[in-house]
Amino acid sequence: MLRIAIIGCGRIAIKKHIEALIQNSDKFETVVVCDINEDKANKCANIFEKKLNKRPEVEIDYKKVLSREDIDAVAIATESGKHYEITIEALSSNKHVLVEKPMALSTKHADEMIELARKKNLKLEVCFQNRFNPPIQELRKKIEEGAFGKINYGVATIRWNRNKEYYRQASWRGTWEEDGGALMNQCTHNIDLLQWMLGGEIKEVYGVIRNFNHPYIEAEDFGGAIIKFNDGKIGIIEGTTSIYPRNLHEKLGIFGERGTVIIGGLAVNKIEEWRFEGEEEHPFMNLPDPDTVYGFGHVPLYKDFYESIVNDRKPYISGEEGKKAMEIVLAIYKSAIEGKPVKFPFEFSTLDMRNGVIK
Ligand SMILES: NC(=O)c1ccc[n+]([C@@H]2O[C@H](COP(=O)([O-])OP(=O)(O)OC[C@H]3O[C@@H](n4cnc5c(N)ncnc54)[C@H](O)[C@@H]3O)[C@@H](O)[C@H]2O)c1
Repeated sequence: MLRIAIIGCGRIAIKKHIEALIQNSDKFETVVVCDINEDKANKCANIFEKKLNKRPEVEIDYKKVLSREDIDAVAIATESGKHYEITIEALSSNKHVLVEKPMALSTKHADEMIELARKKNLKLEVCFQNRFNPPIQELRKKIEEGAFGKINYGVATIRWNRNKEYYRQASWRGTWEEDGGALMNQCTHNIDLLQWMLGGEIKEVYGVIRNFNHPYIEAEDFGGAIIKFNDGKIGIIEGTTSIYPRNLHEKLGIFGERGTVIIGGLAVNKIEEWRFEGEEEHPFMNLPDPDTVYGFGHVPLYKDFYESIVNDRKPYISGEEGKKAMEIVLAIYKSAIEGKPVKFPFEFSTLDMRNGVIK
């Protein structure tokens, strides 16, 4: 058993981290739940107590959690702008870290987190839980088998809606300092899947962003981009939180010489097209949509985090992997203010957007 603490007991912790820790309670004992808002931490503790008959301690100061030697790992689910600082402190205090997406808001910060985990021989895993969606795992197997032949291009489409009420719930959302916009927050999952399936080094990214319908947030509610890979593959991104009047769908299309796959549904949870030689059906074509867009991937993600620690192997979604989608979004942001493609590698932060003029 590993002893773990949750830092940040807001929406995603309540909806998904607790569920995942309860389902993995043979692997993790949740020792502390920590939030600067004590009521939220208590709410989390109550759920554990009700389900597992054991109440974790409640703490409001994460530094006190990190100073404890009886805690092996922490899950960080605070607002995005705090992931870097808390991760660095946690690794420095010899804790393994599972951090929510995006792992950071700057290329430099992500590199520092990866480097520190490597130096300390600690695990750093990022919550891109949709990699565990059953249809996504099926697609990944086809890619690894080489079933597509040469992969030509892929398209990530995110057509969702977030309304004023959602942004009112937490003042950090949609700010350059703590979050970014639709691409960095909502679309980052599908951008991760797109780059993971296409694979390889990126040459450059050209992007545009707009804020069409959300004048009360700083960042974008729409982004479009073309990714050019060094080997010629192309990635296309269309992502928004401005679809009228509610969430429409999230789709990933991968198109190769000898294969075509489109995964759609509310949140890439349903196979829509599955075409390989002699194979045009798949049992996952009519899966029901999950109850929320977050799906069920946090459960296998925690299992992987556990196994990476006890078996001392790389996590499935390591810091290096977690950086890739964040880097693509930062390239889109940089491109949007420069009005030209951004060549890789580069350094950028969402904070650089505060003085930028969007072209
Ligand atoms: N993986 C996913 O599908 C998914 C879904 C939603 C959100 N997220 C990510 O999870 C993170 C949290 O999002 P949310 O919607 O739950 O936000 P939220 O505002 O509901 O929760 C964040 C919580 O962190 C707490 N917090 C802030 N600073 C703290 C500190 N120093 N110590 C302890 N607690 C602190 C806040 O009080 C708040 O309760 C964001 O990074 C977001 O991008 C991921």
